[in-house]
Amino acid sequence: MTRISVNVDGTTYEDDVEPRLLLAHYLRDRLGLTGTPIGCDTSNCGACTVDLDGASVKSCSVLAVQADGRAVTTIQGLAKDGEWTPLQRAFHEQHALQCGYCTPGMIMAARDLLRENPHPDPDEIRQALEGNLCRCTGYQNIVRAVLAASGQQAPGAAPAPGPEVGEEVSA
Ligand code: FES
Ligand code: FES
Repeated sequence: MTRISVNVDGTTYEDDVEPRLLLAHYLRDRLGLTGTPIGCDTSNCGACTVDLDGASVKSCSVLAVQADGRAVTTIQGLAKDGEWTPLQRAFHEQHALQCGYCTPGMIMAARDLLRENPHPDPDEIRQALEGNLCRCTGYQNIVRAVLAASGQQAPGAAPAPGPEVGEEVSA
């Protein structure tokens, strides 16, 4: 067993863990933070993505002991006082999820992208999220959500309401 001290979503935990324990299993099984799902356990699906010291990582490809002395943010650490972040709200408003299994990882990966590139274009969004698989949405609304969260018009989004018939339009 190895003693680790990890800050997760603002709380510091000290635990004895087996050196082979994956961070994903530590979060879920030891800390009960089941908001981070496991989809494949083989680094393919991205469902388990969390933030480790400011960079998104697939928590099934990181050992818990590698998080020793570091800060982890999970999907459960984003909302404050019940208020979603703009990115979470955009996923909701743009219907960027169906079953929701991929959503925590998508949001954590998209959050990392927006930190690096606050105004990504659709190609950059697709590239940044290529390690995150979704079996439901076809990705279109996920791209729209990330665009919306970055303050950009999502392609195909409903246009802003125009003037009413008979309403005077000023230049
Ligand atoms: S569970 Fe980690 S990448 Fe799929
Ligand atoms: S919403 Fe179901 S896997 Fe993405």
